[in-house]
Amino acid sequence: MTMTGRSAATTPLTRPLGRPVPGEGEGGVFSQSWFPVCLSVDLKPGCVVGAGFLGGRVVAFRGEGGGPARVVSAYCVHVGADLSVGEVVGERLRCRFHGWRYGGDGRCVATGIGDPVPPRARLFRFPTVERYGIVWAFNGEEPLFELPELPYPDDELVLRHTVMDEAPVEPWVVAAQTMDLQHFSLQHEFTLEDDPNDAVSGTPYSMGYPLRLRLPGGSRLDLRVDIHGTNIFWQTGTLDGRWFCWISALRAVRPGASRPFFVLGARPAPGEDPAATGAFLDRATQVMMGMLADDAPVLLTMRFRPGLLTRSDRALARYLQYVRRYPRAHPARDFLG
Ligand code: FES
Ligand SMILES: [Fe+2]
Repeated sequence: MTMTGRSAATTPLTRPLGRPVPGEGEGGVFSQSWFPVCLSVDLKPGCVVGAGFLGGRVVAFRGEGGGPARVVSAYCVHVGADLSVGEVVGERLRCRFHGWRYGGDGRCVATGIGDPVPPRARLFRFPTVERYGIVWAFNGEEPLFELPELPYPDDELVLRHTVMDEAPVEPWVVAAQTMDLQHFSLQHEFTLEDDPNDAVSGTPYSMGYPLRLRLPGGSRLDLRVDIHGTNIFWQTGTLDGRWFCWISALRAVRPGASRPFFVLGARPAPGEDPAATGAFLDRATQVMMGMLADDAPVLLTMRFRPGLLTRSDRALARYLQYVRRYPRAHPARDFLG
């Protein structure tokens, strides 16, 4: 018995935890990054597409002339109709309910029956770019960083896209796998050629390292892997000596949920038979999707909380600190719900 009369045997056990990492939406804010909204091929001229984003809803649309993709808040500022059930007329988005029209900058330019446009009638316009076959929107009024570049122009590449169903996991938790070096050898059975823990480098908006390894079947990967923002896994390098890229980007749909987009790219050799390029892409897809299949049972069920990290977790610890400090905001909050 102690002086307070409390037995040591009754001291409650506590789970050893490190400093928490804020979840997406915690405190009403989300990571300020580029997020994939839809595939370019799904946004044909004159089309509008709705998507869950940042705990609310946005629409992407493209003018009938086939110009740039736009991403704006989904709910009309008249009385809140969902603009994804509206239509594109010329270069403008027309609400189905009472016909208000919005330009690509989100401003209302006309009401349906000729009433003057109220001065504050505008949607939230997200910074939007279209790269690598994806329409991306930045969570902010202005982007904090540009999307990374591939070493070859898009028109020299063959790109394949996959969009998966919404998953019950936050983007930063999926991205954490890249920094979780312990799981490489156990979960994926990689043979690492050197320890990436000592080669991590980054910027305020990215972190990564060179990765050289052998796969269980003997194939060799020689890569640069980076996380951009907290949701974009960016990988370029070679598989058995041939260049490829693999981009995994997850949209923060709402707290605890994301939508994964994948881009796999190869560069055909001059005069190469498209079937040979396709066969290489098939092989790279098999490797990458195999890793995803290894991880999925864990990623889709875990409750990620930093606990007792060890010496081999140096890169993971650095990543968790990066995520804790990562800029968060939600300037579109009032518009999205
Ligand atoms: S709700 Fe959109 S015009 Fe009325
Ligand atoms: Fe993994």
